[in-house]
Amino acid sequence: MSPSAPRPRILVTRAIFPEVAQRLSEHFEVESNLDDADWNADEIARRLQDKTGALTFGVERITAELLAQCPALKICANMTVGYNNFDLGAMSAAGVLATNAPDVLTETTADFGFALLMATARRVTESEHFLRAGKWTRWSYQMFSGAEVHGSTLGIIGMGRIGQAIARRGAFGFGMKVIYYNRSRLDGATETQCRATYVSKQELLQAADHVMLVVPYSAASHHTIGVAELALMKPSATLINIARGGIVDDAALAAALRDKRIAAAGLDVFEGEPRVHPDLLTVPNVVLTPHIASATAGTRRDMAMLAVDNLIGYLMHGKAVTPLNASGLQGRI
Ligand code: DGY
Repeated sequence: MSPSAPRPRILVTRAIFPEVAQRLSEHFEVESNLDDADWNADEIARRLQDKTGALTFGVERITAELLAQCPALKICANMTVGYNNFDLGAMSAAGVLATNAPDVLTETTADFGFALLMATARRVTESEHFLRAGKWTRWSYQMFSGAEVHGSTLGIIGMGRIGQAIARRGAFGFGMKVIYYNRSRLDGATETQCRATYVSKQELLQAADHVMLVVPYSAASHHTIGVAELALMKPSATLINIARGGIVDDAALAAALRDKRIAAAGLDVFEGEPRVHPDLLTVPNVVLTPHIASATAGTRRDMAMLAVDNLIGYLMHGKAVTPLNASGLQGRI
């Protein structure tokens, strides 16, 4: 970019760390959402019309319809690893680069997957609610007895970077037998590093004491867990979803929890979030958290900075760090 050229205009759709906003403003004309207002799709489209780039947060639907209204747009940089808010085909056809934020959140998210597994298996929130409600009057040998974590069988569906980090925690930290199912089998060296054994989805559901979902959302992974899959699981099993809403049929899960067809679930993501299926709010054997698996200050800052790296890299130097559709771009590049 020549020094006299006008600076690219960037939209930041949600509030962000001051240091991230500062760094952006060193390179771009920035329109921020300092108040973290809840902009709807029309509002985002209106504000994006004259922008060259956007820092997005994994929830803004970037569709063909929106792109048609934004002729100057060249890049949308998610600060999340998930990118099911992007219509990648439409973005490629419109010549708009999509980027995400992989790797920087892997270990933090795996930590949380394990936290949710422990809380669910050992009934941490259920027993805390009991205590807070003043119901704890005496000790009993079977009070809130939960499921064993160490030495149990952990079944991981989706064995990308985060799935592998969870497998290592399970195998080496808790002496668990780790089995996994993935679209494609890992190479032998990675399986050995994770001490994980590849099985079919059916075998996994039947054998696992704890099922952990870490699969990205797509049309193909919609309702990976529904009535049929829940029926295969052990009645003593727990189900943990840190992947995306829509991977689990939440209505079917709530019914399975209510009828004790599985023992418990831990959910960080929901179909239609931030709404939560009302039946999930009424069953006691589920731990519910508001999509916080990557939420530590350091990791969230790293995720946002990677999105900024992508904006600077692409708009100032022609090369993004973590592009999703670089090879398929057409048109306005
Ligand atoms: C991601 O990065 O996709 C997470 O779900 C956001 O916290």
